[in-house]
Amino acid sequence: MAATTRLPAVKPFSWREHGQQVLQFQYEVYERNFPGFRVDGAFLADYERQLRQALRSPYEGLWVLVEDGQVVGFAWAAIISTLVDERLGYLKNLYVVPWARGRGYGARLLAVAEDWMRSLGAPRATLDVTADNESALRLYQRCGYQIKRHRMEKDLTEQEEEAWL
Ligand SMILES: CC(C)(COP(=O)(O)OP(=O)(O)OC[C@H]1O[C@@H](n2cnc3c(N)ncnc32)[C@H](O)[C@@H]1OP(=O)(O)O)[C@@H](O)C(=O)NCCC(=O)NCCS
Repeated sequence: MAATTRLPAVKPFSWREHGQQVLQFQYEVYERNFPGFRVDGAFLADYERQLRQALRSPYEGLWVLVEDGQVVGFAWAAIISTLVDERLGYLKNLYVVPWARGRGYGARLLAVAEDWMRSLGAPRATLDVTADNESALRLYQRCGYQIKRHRMEKDLTEQEEEAWL
């Protein structure tokens, strides 16, 4: 008989059940999005502290996607305030394990996070994404996100021709 593939379930994140798997995801998330950064024990200990703290806040939402008992995705969102928004949804983390990508799981987790933001009265959602993270950029644009701000960088260690002379 052919094996049946069950659709993964979105569940609230539990430190006891999912914590260690979600910590392992952070190697790719942070080393991919902050080139040169190396995830180490101290970083993971701090991340664990932040996760546990978030679980106690009504303004932080954390979910996992579970397939056959395995965590295949993770999303973390928060409600924040800015100069112009009293309540703004902010996506802090979105991850899908490499072998389960391209099946709509990222979009599904994003939709769950957005429903939660809406339910807490946030009229808009925002997120930060690295400019060369093309799969994430495509996902966010397909899901309706627009670029509103650019963060620019310049390498100051390289000598430049004095163009203004
Ligand atoms: C970014 C990330 C979360 C996307 O997850 P994902 O589950 O692959 O996302 P989706 O499946 O919803 O979308 C990915 C692609 O699959 C396609 N897709 C979705 N469902 C599909 C289906 N049923 N059949 C075929 N293709 C499908 C989408 O159209 C999309 O195509 P595109 O890349 O050409 O736009 C994932 O790549 C990841 O975890 N990256 C590393 C961590 C990271 O950088 N996170 C973002 C931090 S800002």
